Amino acid sequence: MLDRRRLLTLGGITAGSVAGGMLLLPPAPTPAATPGIAGDEAQHGHRQTAGKRRTRPGTQFTKRMPVPRELTPTTRNGTDCYRIPIQQAEHAFVPGQPSVVRTYAGQFVGPTIRAKTGRPVKITFTNNLAGPTNVHLHGGHVPQSSDGYPTDIIAPGTSRDYHYPNSQQGATLWYHDHAHHVEAENVYLGLHGFYIIDDGAERALKLPTGEYDVPIMLRDALLDENGTLVYTVHPPERTTILANGVVTPHFPVARRKYRFRFLNGATERVFRLKLGGADMIQIGSDGGLLPAPVPRSEIELGSAERVDVVIDFSRYPVGTQLVLQDVTGPVLRFDVTRNADDPSRVPDTLRPLPPMPPATVERVVAMRFDLSGPAPIGLVNDKTFDPNRVDFRIKRGTSEIWEIRNDDFEFGIPHTFHTHLEQFRVLDRGGRPPTLNDAGRKDTVFVAPGEPVRIQINFTEHLGKYLYHCHYMEHSAHGMMGQMDIVE
Ligand code: C2O
Ligand code: CU
Repeated sequence: MLDRRRLLTLGGITAGSVAGGMLLLPPAPTPAATPGIAGDEAQHGHRQTAGKRRTRPGTQFTKRMPVPRELTPTTRNGTDCYRIPIQQAEHAFVPGQPSVVRTYAGQFVGPTIRAKTGRPVKITFTNNLAGPTNVHLHGGHVPQSSDGYPTDIIAPGTSRDYHYPNSQQGATLWYHDHAHHVEAENVYLGLHGFYIIDDGAERALKLPTGEYDVPIMLRDALLDENGTLVYTVHPPERTTILANGVVTPHFPVARRKYRFRFLNGATERVFRLKLGGADMIQIGSDGGLLPAPVPRSEIELGSAERVDVVIDFSRYPVGTQLVLQDVTGPVLRFDVTRNADDPSRVPDTLRPLPPMPPATVERVVAMRFDLSGPAPIGLVNDKTFDPNRVDFRIKRGTSEIWEIRNDDFEFGIPHTFHTHLEQFRVLDRGGRPPTLNDAGRKDTVFVAPGEPVRIQINFTEHLGKYLYHCHYMEHSAHGMMGQMDIVE
């Protein structure tokens, strides 16, 4: 096996030897990025945090955080239709220094789609990039043909319709690139956007809506001295934090309740969020509302996880500034600037979780890297992704228990686990009850070495081949994916 020094140099060798930059590296573990080994981190749940933040003097909290534009559909036969070009565009992370990024409709955080339960959406995506792309609706219950299978790409210069039935309850979903081997780079360079499903029952709860319901994509970035977004496969180099595409912005708020939908859109990172000393009230996770609101003093969010929270600013006088902090530094500042009426509520009861029937099948999903060769290989149950191989054959209508393992003990490499098609529930973590971060309907969970996470999934609808994989996208790009076939 490799020792640490060789593993560190492996990065350089591989980077120079792979043509076209198509195959990407795993993160070379550095002391800062191997919390499984560092004692202090280990005590705090083995979660990875990136390297030290470089502060850019004078840039903190100067820009206002934008809210990604919502697209207006054209409607035909009860289907909401949208057109989204996928194109290069310029985005200035540093004022006056535009950087070329890859975008949905020219926006670094793509336009938000607001869908309604039971009302289908059709999106026509056109690939105006030079390379392949495709689109996956993360958390969506969608037919196989619209799931953005890694080899099912939109070739440059062509368009494709994706059909989303929205046959699921309200939830904060997102859409992103999933083209095989290039998904990490494409997403890092900007191919990510929100897709929010609203439903009537949720509306009846009178949670904050409209301008008081704000999606916030958090992610990291490496900006060079020209303010250019640079793709690096070494996450500790991604020392800049973006909230909706802006470096540590401020966001003016009224003295009332807001709903914030946080998404970790970083390709490999964990955010550990705190709001001054104040609690945030968690109301939802990946797949929609929790049964009841939960006060949270700290929230951990792994790559691709979402959390919906309510923050009540009526407790603070106008002029108050509240900083949302990650363990590596500030993320965003809320500035209380005005009074406002607040007809919204956070009811004591939100939405019960769906019943879990007895599981009939148990499986193990073990993720790890094979680092013995010249290029790292991502493995699930000892096999790298092969679109022609079915790993799990699953009967529709059944419920299964999966034990998700991270077998990368040696270098303490963290992983997150994601399944397409269905949300699941976390049964236990490391033999103990799930943490608050595991609550509710999930489609992505953090998995630390030596801390197996057992989940239960109901396969309710749709047939065909779907993925499950590590959602550290540099890892899935290296093949850390498996395939299930849902059959009648
Ligand atoms: Cu968010 Cu298979 O992806
Ligand atoms: Cu991984």
